[in-house]
Amino acid sequence: MLTQIGQRPAREGGELYVALSECHQRIRLYVNLAWQLAAADDVTPGERRNAARAVRRYFSLAFPRHVADEEELLTPLLAGTDPHVDEALRMMNDEHEEHDRDVQRLVLLCHVLEHDPLHAAARAELARLATYLGGAFERHLALEEALVFPALRRSAPSVQAALYAAIRRRRQRPRATSTIAAK
Ligand SMILES: [Fe+2]
Ligand SMILES: [Fe+2]
Repeated sequence: MLTQIGQRPAREGGELYVALSECHQRIRLYVNLAWQLAAADDVTPGERRNAARAVRRYFSLAFPRHVADEEELLTPLLAGTDPHVDEALRMMNDEHEEHDRDVQRLVLLCHVLEHDPLHAAARAELARLATYLGGAFERHLALEEALVFPALRRSAPSVQAALYAAIRRRRQRPRATSTIAAK
């Protein structure tokens, strides 16, 4: 039985923090689903195919938008306000770059399993990669939640409102698609 995606986390704080926390919740859920679809044996080929499609679409479409929000919108707002925050931002952006190749590989493996849910080598590699990425994401999200988001909360309310508005504007644009995701 694979995890059902769609539960919403508790809503605490303003809309900006709800949106950020929901993004983090989805990262945790989808990397866990990637591990389950690769490692679980009590899954039908159809369930594995559907889960692989959902994980591929999440990491091709929504995940890159959250990373882009942090790099292009949040980082410029907080940069230069405090040396400790600058260090946390540097680590955050470096880690995004470190995750990139592994996320692309995860998307490719899901693409393989979508078309051949019995592909044993793809399942084995995806199980290893999802285990690794699950740990890497947990450390990364903890850094952001402990250092970056609190710095955002200390910034002027107008800054936080501007960031939320910019994130919402981006969500209202037509979605970009990758070649793999365009199915
Ligand atoms: Fe991040
Ligand atoms: Fe994040």
